[in-house]
Amino acid sequence: MKLTFLGHAAVRLQHDAHEVLIDPFLSGNPNAVTAPEALSPSHVILTHAHADHVGDTVAIAERCRAIVVGAVEVVNRLAQEGVEGVGMNVGGAAEFPFGRVQFTPAWHSSSFADGTYGGTPMGVIVEMGGVTVFHAGDTALFSDLALVARRPIDVALVPIGDHFTMGPEDALAAVRMLMPRHVVPVHYDTFPPIRQDARAFAQRVEAETESRAHALAPGEALDL
Ligand code: NI
Ligand code: MN
Repeated sequence: MKLTFLGHAAVRLQHDAHEVLIDPFLSGNPNAVTAPEALSPSHVILTHAHADHVGDTVAIAERCRAIVVGAVEVVNRLAQEGVEGVGMNVGGAAEFPFGRVQFTPAWHSSSFADGTYGGTPMGVIVEMGGVTVFHAGDTALFSDLALVARRPIDVALVPIGDHFTMGPEDALAAVRMLMPRHVVPVHYDTFPPIRQDARAFAQRVEAETESRAHALAPGEALDL
């Protein structure tokens, strides 16, 4: 399985012929190096309704006929724009042609740019090609993250930007609870309030936990 960091909280997961995106915010991200037109997913998973996560979802879904997987409120709203989706909710799991998706709690908020309610914000566990990926979404540190670690996690994507989500110190505590084999910091550097030293965070993860950490530049990938 190949995991490509697309910048901010956006990732692409690929295994065999399957391609799945999570939170594809690209054209609005000055640090992104991947054009939305370069992607051809069958499914787009959304953690919540904020614009820096929904991003280019509608354009990608229209072009690729991709199915959006997210909170029922997010999926119902995007359906008004002609996007096909599978509405889920926190705690629920479902099987897809590429693998299994389960949504987890996240402590944050969730609304569309016009203020429309976006349901509860969530993290997501994706099992694909024998690899378990946990994308924490936008969240504060909270102790129930330890429950996610009941299943061995191969890669955890954790926000480190602070201001809108947990910062590096709390993300380190999250890593201690999640105990993943690999950690990829996300949700930093995109806007001035969330500038962080991701390399310093990665060094601390490797020095203070059993996890390996990868401060990926946008466009960089991990083979798992
Ligand atoms: Ni958010
Ligand atoms: Mn965000």
